[in-house]
Amino acid sequence: MEKIILTGDRPTGRLHLGHFVGSLKRRVELQNSGDYDKIFIMIADAQALTDNADNPEKVRQNVIEVALDYLSVGLDPAKSTLFVQTHVPELTELAFYYMNLVSVSRVQRNPTVKTEIQMRGFEKSIPMGFFSYPVSQASDITAFRATTVPVGEDQAPMIELTREIVNRFNNIYGPTLVEPEIMLPDASVCMRLPGTDGKAKMSKSLGNCIYLSDSPKEVKKKVNSMYTDPEHLTVDSPGHLEGNCPFIYLDAFATDEQVHRFNPDFESLDDLKARYVKGGVGDGTVKKILIGVLEELLAPIRERRAYWEQRIPEVYEILRTGSETAREQAGKTLDEVRAAMKIDYFADQDLIKEQAARYKSKK
Ligand code: TRP
Repeated sequence: MEKIILTGDRPTGRLHLGHFVGSLKRRVELQNSGDYDKIFIMIADAQALTDNADNPEKVRQNVIEVALDYLSVGLDPAKSTLFVQTHVPELTELAFYYMNLVSVSRVQRNPTVKTEIQMRGFEKSIPMGFFSYPVSQASDITAFRATTVPVGEDQAPMIELTREIVNRFNNIYGPTLVEPEIMLPDASVCMRLPGTDGKAKMSKSLGNCIYLSDSPKEVKKKVNSMYTDPEHLTVDSPGHLEGNCPFIYLDAFATDEQVHRFNPDFESLDDLKARYVKGGVGDGTVKKILIGVLEELLAPIRERRAYWEQRIPEVYEILRTGSETAREQAGKTLDEVRAAMKIDYFADQDLIKEQAARYKSKK
């Protein structure tokens, strides 16, 4: 069986460091590993519209932002198919068939959907489209026969639902669909990069993100205002590492070599931590190292972004041809799905003959 990856993002904002550790870095590694036959990376604009129906301009603007972020982290259209969800209408068709295989209560129990309903104030009145997006996500994954879906842990309920739909479909209509596996980010520290304010997650609405497209000045300013240890009042007082943002970020991004190179007083990250805990290391010292580490990561990303920002028509062309390739692949799956579901009336010559013969013999 072919090894196929499908994953994607809602285009509702520029991508940030949380996306980088949670998914983008991994995607580039997977792309360059050569272990996969096909890789599809989707800009999920249809899904973005499920809770932004009244703000189409926001989605439209962010399609290009996300595409630029993809290209700038090193996703390569020669190796990965970058495409736009709305331009593969087969996905919508497939989602409609899947809705027959999922109960309302099943989606109501989805913890990610539950949280989102609360966050968006949808309790009183949930848009149908929003409510059914987990089903649409199952269609995104299975239309490409994806075997592997690299996503954050908040997406686990979606993959679980997808597997259930695949099993139901294959049971009712015969073996047609491929059951996907989730691929979670590896190091547990990287699973949820907190915002610069120490809150659980980087989120645009909380204004606590470091964006991949931030300038060196913006990065510096954001790191310098990061939440640290409120009890670490003077350089000499002992510090705590738990919930201390600069240290969490160093865990996620820094090597010992970098820590030593950016401040030769310290041998390694553990050395820095031990001395901070003991007392005698100021937050500014830690932050300065982190700024160096982040700049080393972000500089090449920024450079590639600047390159593509000057070639916007080419970026749209990449998305257009990617969407064509994606359509071809999804189209093949849809042909098989329609045959399995017995709605392939005009493609099935036997059906036409059978029906004709039935009525002839009646005469
Ligand atoms: N729900 C994902 C997110 O919010 C985006 C997405 C849509 C997706 N369809 C997908 C991810 C299919 C993986 C597979 O980030």
